[in-house]
Amino acid sequence: MNIHIVTTPWQSTGGDWLIVGVTEPPNFAGSLKALDDTLGGRLTRLRELGDLTGKHAELVPIRDASPLAAKRLLLVGLGKPEELTLPRYEKALLTAVRSISEKKCGELAVAIECPADSKLSAAELAQMVAFAATVGGVGQGLFKTEPARFSFEDVSLAVATGADSADLKAAAKRGHILGEAVNVVRELVNLPAGDLYPESFAERSNQLAQDFGISCGVFDEKWLKQERMGCMLAVGQASDRPPRLVVLKYDGAPGHSRRLAFVGKGVTFDSGGLSIKTNEGMLTMKCDMAGAATVLGAIIAIARLKLPVNVSGYMGLVENMISGNSYKLGDVLKSRSGITVEINNTDAEGRLVLSDVLRYAVDDGADRLIDLATLTGSCVVALGEDVAGAFSNDQPWCDAVLSAAKRAGEDVWQLPMFDHFSEQLKSDVADVKNTGSRWGGSITAAKFLEKFVDKRPWVHLDIAGPAFAAASKPHREGGGTGCMVRTLVEVASGFKQAPAG
Ligand code: BES
Ligand code: MN
Ligand code: ZN
Repeated sequence: MNIHIVTTPWQSTGGDWLIVGVTEPPNFAGSLKALDDTLGGRLTRLRELGDLTGKHAELVPIRDASPLAAKRLLLVGLGKPEELTLPRYEKALLTAVRSISEKKCGELAVAIECPADSKLSAAELAQMVAFAATVGGVGQGLFKTEPARFSFEDVSLAVATGADSADLKAAAKRGHILGEAVNVVRELVNLPAGDLYPESFAERSNQLAQDFGISCGVFDEKWLKQERMGCMLAVGQASDRPPRLVVLKYDGAPGHSRRLAFVGKGVTFDSGGLSIKTNEGMLTMKCDMAGAATVLGAIIAIARLKLPVNVSGYMGLVENMISGNSYKLGDVLKSRSGITVEINNTDAEGRLVLSDVLRYAVDDGADRLIDLATLTGSCVVALGEDVAGAFSNDQPWCDAVLSAAKRAGEDVWQLPMFDHFSEQLKSDVADVKNTGSRWGGSITAAKFLEKFVDKRPWVHLDIAGPAFAAASKPHREGGGTGCMVRTLVEVASGFKQAPAG
């Protein structure tokens, strides 16, 4: 997809489709007035008929748009200008783009104009348009014989004459890079477990890392044993697909010592193990590697954006299966930290994988940690399908992550980490059990993880809800979503480096 900035008036901007945002109520002034005039007052008539209201995400397609230079015009409602936020703009744009991308569209033009009374800048809009055009052109139909969605070849952003077009071009490039990173995550999450398993995931990660100049190490089960990763190995031991740890390193601030670490749960399929899931519960469990995919996607974006920051990524890749060699209820595992863990549910496998990988990240020099995991159904019960849960041992670091999420327009909500939740994890035979009771299950999972970060500032993001969408909506394709990529990039953008020494 190529993105250009053009300064032609909207009525003379060519393309298969021209998308124009309309506020509620429609305000025919400036560029929109010129467009309406060229169309002989057609938009005014549509407004009078009540067919063009500007209501948020309303779509009014005009398929015969002559005498406009564009073949077709799509008016998209932006809602009331004073209520227009970046996430609302995103939703409207994605709705518009997705309605077009079901058919082949070579050339897409999008009019960029900050509505009067809105607080958004043209650069923010340009970034979002590029993002939406990149993400909205890709679907989840990876195995369809006839494609169900088409990406755009060329996208023109029609901006006002006199705008700082270098600035807008950079913003559009940023949006495109973020969109492509989100698409990588979506594709990996959408790939079934028969195609994406620890080795193939590691191979793909290594390839992508090479493409973008990121250093990448892939470590096998023998190495994991040497490194005493007993919990992660136990989860993977029933599978015919051996586990892998992928370590990514991007050094954008050489000579600076502080290191940010992203750690991802990469369970390529979660059958539940001997504590087997129901058919219903297992149906979408190819998505259980979304945390690891997010780590990869975010570091790709950070590297492509050349952010001045040192980041490491750790992807713990295993398949939680059932065989004569399954890890069992009552087993006691020894984690890398030395902490012994009594297993009372083999379906609470994500925290076992993370316990070893988090500790490895700490030993590898992480100063600040964020882990991402489709960890608990309980978090989805608490916050719903579209909100990630945040859990932390360090409020300033958590605040930094929450404010980055806010800037990125992604919904994250912090849950408490009261000490008494740990009582549920007491074991009679080992240092700790791997599950507590049903109540507060996402918090006891986080309390479990906390034991393995050696008191380093750490935020755990439970993305069991938002990582995978059960059904498509007008603004979003079902399947993998790529949530939290933009939040992690935003965290990296705001990460203060300290000089080495
Ligand atoms: N991968 C699941 C969590 C999950 C559930 C992710 C729904 C996405 C959607 C995790 O490994 C799991 O099975 N968690 C258990 C924990 C329980 C056994 C304490 C759960 O949530 O039921
Ligand atoms: Mn599980
Ligand atoms: Zn799982």
